[in-house]
Amino acid sequence: MTEETHELVELIEHEQGIVTLRINRPEALNALNANVLEAIHDKAAEIATRKDLSVVIVTGSGRAFVAGADIKAMLEMTSDEAEQFAQLGHRAMNAIAALPVPVIAAINGFALGGGLELALSCDLLYASTKARVGLPEVGLGLIPGFGGTQRLGRLIGYHAARELVFTGGMIKADEALRLGLVLKTFEPEALEEGVMTIAKQIAARGPGAVRCAKRVMEQGRPLNISQALELETRSFQELFDSEEPFEGMRAHLDKRAPEFRK
Ligand code: CAA
Repeated sequence: MTEETHELVELIEHEQGIVTLRINRPEALNALNANVLEAIHDKAAEIATRKDLSVVIVTGSGRAFVAGADIKAMLEMTSDEAEQFAQLGHRAMNAIAALPVPVIAAINGFALGGGLELALSCDLLYASTKARVGLPEVGLGLIPGFGGTQRLGRLIGYHAARELVFTGGMIKADEALRLGLVLKTFEPEALEEGVMTIAKQIAARGPGAVRCAKRVMEQGRPLNISQALELETRSFQELFDSEEPFEGMRAHLDKRAPEFRK
């Protein structure tokens, strides 16, 4: 299978508006070259506007999630090209982060460098017990260039993030769990189903409410607490202009399952 004959990023449809975005360059452990980054960006943009979309799962094909930015490609770059490459990486990661629905990283194997940075662009991170994660860039004379210097510390705190960035070490899934880098680990053969169960649970909730919750939690981060609470109040109020909370609350009181519309 060559790069020309298969899709570098596959979209796989499931029930309830759940979509898997699978990085598909297994012969290079899904390393991110410009073509893969463009494909991640384009696939994310393609699904972003879909009304039926409820959850996106990001994963890798073969034995890796993603083993990083493509080292062979970077070896040929001038500093101007490196700047463009980092910007392209940010565009791809930001397209994932900006999806209007929860995005789950199902880390099925190596998530290194740009691979961990891709996972860090997701909302919820889960891993196989076989996964290995890290930011090995300083060992290559580089720094994380697709968001790792910024997103890792925001997720697990700067103390632990500094250790991972400065040592360039690779950690096992149980250590990632201890650091709060992943929420849960699954045996390799149980990862797909475990993640799908969580995705289905989210997909069964009020779709407007889930999207609203993601937006408010994200937009509130750079605000001070009173601005953030004001944002929360405005958003809480806006939900009452739709049918969804009335269906949800009525169903609860009627002791039946809600029938939410997308
Ligand atoms: N770039 C390009 N090719 C890669 C790659 C990468 N990041 N990672 C793996 N590959 C390729 C290998 O070159 C190899 O290809 P060939 O068969 O053509 O030689 C193939 O994938 C399989 O890899 P290995 O034979 O090395 O597999 P392994 O099981 O022995 O080792 C590994 C697995 C420990 C993950 C090892 O492949 C590795 O260390 N990869 C590099 C990890 C890394 O340093 N990532 C960070 C990149 S820098 C970065 O990401 C910068 C940024 O933030 C923008």
